[in-house]
Parts: sequence; structure tokens; C-alpha cells
Amino acid sequence: FAATDYQAEDATVVQGTVATNHTGYTGTGFVDYTNVKGSYVEFTVRPASAGTTAVTFRYANGTATDRPMDLSVDGTVVASAVSFPATADWNTWATKTIDVPLTAGSAKIRATATSAAGGPNLDRVRVDAATDSQAPSR
Ligand code: GCU
Repeated sequence: FAATDYQAEDATVVQGTVATNHTGYTGTGFVDYTNVKGSYVEFTVRPASAGTTAVTFRYANGTATDRPMDLSVDGTVVASAVSFPATADWNTWATKTIDVPLTAGSAKIRATATSAAGGPNLDRVRVDAATDSQAPSR
């Protein structure tokens, strides 16, 4: 099974907006988290098999300050206050990879801002082995 990209702008967005006002995103835009703790993006992904799976977030953070987020799978936090440190500017994207436990079939991966500044701008998440057919965009 191939790595599969899930675009943030196609995910469930709570306290955030889909935006296109910076360059370098993939898909049709990115999610601009509202500057508030608790804002989140939730992806429904289709893991190929159960087990520890690398999940890679592509994000931008044009501030000088970390934008940490909790990562949860199906409602359980699997990584707390994961660091999404500054990138050079809002047009510069970086990746953050976390190994998370997934069950086969379907999983809801949620990234929730844990600081008052909200999350970074989020372009997509890549799941190492998933059964969806969407080809990874580069
Ligand atoms: C700026 C930037 C946004 C970003 C926001 C933030 O307004 O243009 O893309 O989301 O800062 O602080 O989160």
C-alpha cells in the first residue's frame, strides 16, 4: 500500500478556515487555525493494516513561537503538545512525523491546538500505508 495524502482543506475543520493567501501549499489550499486553544482539524484516514504508522504533517508557522498540538486517534490522545516550530515564513512549509498506533480500516486523526495562538497553518497529512487511492501530491 502506498503512502496517501489527505488534504487539510478536505478534512473536518473546527475553529479554522480554508485559506490560499500564502504560496507553496498542495491541493487547493490549507487550513488556517483560528488563534484559539482547542481549534482542530480531523482527518478520516484508511490505514492498510493495524499497527504503528508514520503520520507526517505538512505545516507552516511564520511566527517565532511554537504552535504545539495534541494528536489523537479515535478520541484518544497519542501524542501531547507535539511541537510545530517556526518556519522561515508563512510560505515555507516543513514536515513533522509522528508514529501513531492505528487500527485497520478507518481512523480519525485529530490535531488540536494546545496554545492560545492556535495551530500552525496545516497543508496536509500523509499516512505511510493507507488504502485510499489518492496519489500523494508533491
Ligand atoms: C497570519 C497569517 C495566517 C496565519 C496567522 C496565524 O495572519 O497570514 O496565515 O494563520 O497569521 O497567526 O495563525
